[in-house]
Amino acid sequence: MIVINSIEQLKIHLISMQDQKKIIGFVPTMGALHAGHISLINRAKAACDVVICSIFVNPTQFNDLSDLDKYPRTVETDCRMLEKANCDIVFVPEVMEMYTEKELELKRQKVEDKSWAEGKRIDFGPLEKVMEGAHRQGHFNGVAQVVSKLFRIVQPQKAYFGQKDFQQLAIIKSMVKQLDMPIEIVSCAIIREPNGLAMSSRNERLTAKEREIASIISKTLFMIREHYQSKQFKELMADAEALILKESSIKLEYLEIADAETLQPVNDLNKGKNAVACIAAKIGEVRLIDNVVLY
Ligand code: PAF
Repeated sequence: MIVINSIEQLKIHLISMQDQKKIIGFVPTMGALHAGHISLINRAKAACDVVICSIFVNPTQFNDLSDLDKYPRTVETDCRMLEKANCDIVFVPEVMEMYTEKELELKRQKVEDKSWAEGKRIDFGPLEKVMEGAHRQGHFNGVAQVVSKLFRIVQPQKAYFGQKDFQQLAIIKSMVKQLDMPIEIVSCAIIREPNGLAMSSRNERLTAKEREIASIISKTLFMIREHYQSKQFKELMADAEALILKESSIKLEYLEIADAETLQPVNDLNKGKNAVACIAAKIGEVRLIDNVVLY
């Protein structure tokens, strides 16, 4: 496995792979890798000739600077895990490799910078106005900014994302479509701890007791999945809220059932269409998200 820090070096490797017509699979990450990330590498390995993983804690997608500071950084362990999973290249750029000073300054001034769209009038519309988009100002603009940069550098045929970030997946699919990028976005199942907690780099910051408490998030989602077709909508939502709030140390940010395509809230009338139940909640200072798809 080759570890590369500069875009220039990466491009040298990419040119030779493109000349050999290799299928490139790409797994963008922010590091602090866990079994969920490795499952993305495995999916990519099974379908592509070369697998490239990036590790970059992207400053423009954090709306809370203390969250950015506290984000776990474990590059050495990450590289060992990637090597074991037979990843071919790891791209670990510094912030100044990915951003100009001007772009970072705009972020500091909280100015929404759409220069990543390179002149295209890109708009995520209602997709980014709900759930994570409503609670984390500028988050999806930062995600699209960095993912578009990474896609332009790596030029993969396929890119792999976890379904835990359900809304992020919808945003990235929309971005690729609007920017006409010839990249297949592959969505991969959520990997869970034995107690049901969705794997996340943020779990690192939970104590063992908090990890147990956090499992109420997935238990609530599984309860919704079990009763979605049979219970009255209002009763189901009330039961779900009561279940999660039994844990007094959980601060619920939102609990929503949304249309799986448009991500707009669902009510009794549009039950029956594919939907997704989503939760964002905090345990202490750690913010977690999770979801289940409902049919
Ligand atoms: O899902 C993540 O880890 C990040 O949002 C991503 C896609 C790597 C962009 O920074």
